[in-house]
Amino acid sequence: MDNRPIGIFDSGVGGLTVASQVIKQLENEEIVYFGDTARVPYGNKSKEIITKFSCQDVRFLLSKNVKAVIIACNTASANSLDDLINKFDVPVFGVVVPGAKEAVRVTQNQKVGIIATIGTVRSDAYKKAINIVNANVQVYSKACPLFVPLAEEGWANEEITRLTAEKYLKELIEKGVDTVVMGCTHYPLLRQCLQSVVGNEVRLVDPAYETAMAIKEYLVKNNMLRVAETKPQHSFFVSDTTDMFEKICSKALEKRYSTEEIDIESY
Ligand code: DGL
Repeated sequence: MDNRPIGIFDSGVGGLTVASQVIKQLENEEIVYFGDTARVPYGNKSKEIITKFSCQDVRFLLSKNVKAVIIACNTASANSLDDLINKFDVPVFGVVVPGAKEAVRVTQNQKVGIIATIGTVRSDAYKKAINIVNANVQVYSKACPLFVPLAEEGWANEEITRLTAEKYLKELIEKGVDTVVMGCTHYPLLRQCLQSVVGNEVRLVDPAYETAMAIKEYLVKNNMLRVAETKPQHSFFVSDTTDMFEKICSKALEKRYSTEEIDIESY
């Protein structure tokens, strides 16, 4: 038994889609979430800066006495997971490997598309993780930077989002992929639109769900689940207070939470 909370960090609000899955799959666990809203986006930054920011994010979570850390941000998972594992004495989980494993499991024709930020595509992390599991799977990646602001704007079902998705996804559809990994925290918020563009026969993989299942397996195996009669209390921290957080929070977690602002530069 380990009653300490699970730490989750993201570059901002997008990681709430991951927090939502963790809360659903591990309903007795407490969450400490940090969204780096002052320094978002991470998606177009260099590996060095992403890793520097991620280290600060982990240090903050450790100050809250977390028992494990989930990197909800695909860009940080893709660029900084190994550095964080080596640097910190706490189990650290990224979203890339669970998402990659699921893509390999579901593809029938061995053609997988990855949609993600520029930083995630540049790292090739999904391709590498997929090909470790199955070297025969062909991976086609496409950076879709405009999806992040569209999701944050709440334009999940607007014409502009559909047109943008059609343009971004054209290449992947032409390659004949039967599976597309939504390799960015925000994309599950656009799921309906993405599905209608790729067609119902293409499987969309959400790494958030797979990550929540992976951490559940780890906590069970290591006897680290929270055992308590009281209802779990979640806490949310940001580096800059914005309306966006509450907006996405009510959408992703179907509940309003208040946030506390912290100075991430001091970690
Ligand atoms: N959280 C980032 C990701 O999943 C998207 C937003 C950003 O660029 O920071 O890659």
